[in-house]
Amino acid sequence: MQIAIDGPASAGKSTIAKIVANKLNYVYIDTGAMYRAATLVALQHNVSLVDESGIVALIKQFPVTFKIEDQKQLVLVNDQDVSDQIRLPEITNNVSRVSALPQVRQLLVKQQQHLASQHSIVMDGRDIGTVVLPQADVKIFMVASVTERAQRRYQENTQRGIHTPLETLEDEISLRDYKDSHRKASPLKKATDALEIDTTGLNIEQVSQKVLKLIYNKT
Ligand code: C5P
Repeated sequence: MQIAIDGPASAGKSTIAKIVANKLNYVYIDTGAMYRAATLVALQHNVSLVDESGIVALIKQFPVTFKIEDQKQLVLVNDQDVSDQIRLPEITNNVSRVSALPQVRQLLVKQQQHLASQHSIVMDGRDIGTVVLPQADVKIFMVASVTERAQRRYQENTQRGIHTPLETLEDEISLRDYKDSHRKASPLKKATDALEIDTTGLNIEQVSQKVLKLIYNKT
């Protein structure tokens, strides 16, 4: 079984994907974390964010792995837990440059498809329903107003000790959406057969119930 969840930044994809995967006993794969990790490694090694072959070489040298510990999914690079580091503003504000590089996408999509071939999975990202898993059993496109998405990110950041003003977050989210949906290589786009869920004004419980219902109806 393959469940694809796509949508713009901070629409609630990963929160819901984790709950759904847990409920169905599927593996959750956060593809955004893979692009974030590639950005982190490039910055750490002083490789320019436009150096496509340099970044590809780094991804091969330092592949991302996922590990569950105390019911928390950790993102590892070189066996080091980078789960918090990849959420820092420096990474968030640069990741769209790295994810726009076609060779980087090609490599990470291949890794994502390999991961998906091994388990029943819930995978979230921007191009899962369109490019990574075009044959997914269920495709969901999750959206929410920019204001609400910025508010959610603000709360999340506060819990992580990151203090960015709400208006800045709103601007950053809009800019990232623009870049992600206007790049040449597999831009953020709703698959023609995806079901759209607008999570504005809904709580986590309401959205996860909606998604689970869609999955049960389709299977
Ligand atoms: O999902 P998250 O916000 O963590 O994704 C970070 C960035 O990674 C996105 O803004 C986008 O540039 C990139 N991404 C992508 N394709 C995916 C998942 C994420 O281009 N499948």
